[in-house]
Amino acid sequence: MTLRKLLAALVLAAATLAPAATASAGQSHENHPLIIGHRGAAGYLPDHTLAGYALAIRMGADYIEPDLVATKDGHLIARHEPDISGTTNVADHPEFADRKRTETIDGAEVTGWFASDFTLKEIKTLRAIQPLAGRPTQFNGRFKIPTLEEVIALAKRYSKRYHRRIGIYPETKHPTYHRSIGLPLEKRLVRILDNAGWNRKGAPVIIQSFEPGSLKRLNKLTPLRLVQLIDANDVNPDGSLDYTAPYDRPYDWTASGKPKLLARTFGYLTTDAGLDEVASYADGIGPWKPYIISSALVDTNGDGTAGDENGDGAVNEADRTLLEPTDLVSRAHARGLIVHPYTFRNEGFRLVSDYEGNPINEYLRFFEAGVDGLFSDFADTAFVARDLFWLESSPGEEVEPGS
Ligand code: G3P
Ligand code: CA
Repeated sequence: MTLRKLLAALVLAAATLAPAATASAGQSHENHPLIIGHRGAAGYLPDHTLAGYALAIRMGADYIEPDLVATKDGHLIARHEPDISGTTNVADHPEFADRKRTETIDGAEVTGWFASDFTLKEIKTLRAIQPLAGRPTQFNGRFKIPTLEEVIALAKRYSKRYHRRIGIYPETKHPTYHRSIGLPLEKRLVRILDNAGWNRKGAPVIIQSFEPGSLKRLNKLTPLRLVQLIDANDVNPDGSLDYTAPYDRPYDWTASGKPKLLARTFGYLTTDAGLDEVASYADGIGPWKPYIISSALVDTNGDGTAGDENGDGAVNEADRTLLEPTDLVSRAHARGLIVHPYTFRNEGFRLVSDYEGNPINEYLRFFEAGVDGLFSDFADTAFVARDLFWLESSPGEEVEPGS
């Protein structure tokens, strides 16, 4: 059987088998490591659609991830940006043409159509489109934009259908911006979770944000687990992180104008002092992958320069060489923080050369580094990789890893 066929068979199994539960740094009845369907099943279907979330669940995701922005009438909808022009067909709606405008979000000027200029009823006339080049587009225009309530209902429905616990992993997007336009996210989010009976310890909900201020507010409103996301702009040729704005620091730190916070980058959150601080208001960190395993541009083809090593005309991940894992996972665990890095993707040009074009190898490397879960655009691949990781970690002839 070819690797492709083996993977296909395992993916099919994922649709019907309930993944085994093992001990977790989070909750003992959850899978470990967790598989989080990033924006649903973003590798296959337009981001943040009920169809995408459902597919992610069928492919084995334990949690589905809605990014949240607010509509004009205060509903929370699942979109990656307040600007909906890249993820919906709003540009094809002549009745909304005059709503196109320029807005400043987190210090950067953005021109487009903004969720906060539309009522939910208007949003429901739009359809989702695939935002990433090279991803399938045949489903563009098919699926509506879901509300958070609809995402929760779907998770509950599929939990019953498949007899396994499906959680949600909502992210407050641009909380400072939403607050500045009179549509703060945190209380709205908690109210919706309350109504769903999920604003309680032990509920299958983990809330994430890039802004510490949003998490600190939430920490006063909910007993649910909170995760501090940690970003950066890019990876330098030597593997260190680049903090060019606007990905230099959480925007609430920038907006505060406080010299102490302006002196920090996102990198501060990975220092011992930063992790101590995170542990005072959150339960985990969601770092960009290179914080755990980075990569460098190395002259592997011996042409005298480090750049397009594979000669495909582009310089990208596939030209890079892995560095040793950092100690971030162990230092976070020492403080009781769970670690959920993002984002795992299958495309060859997004995979460091050491993975030899096989995304399974990347998952295995991160599972071996001790992460407690991860965000994946391809939950099926993550599911298979986790099964292989469990098999690797199990002694002898065991055929049901993790149980
Ligand atoms: O939330 C984890 C990851 O999704 C953060 O990045 O930009 O995809 O929301 P983004
Ligand atoms: Ca997200």
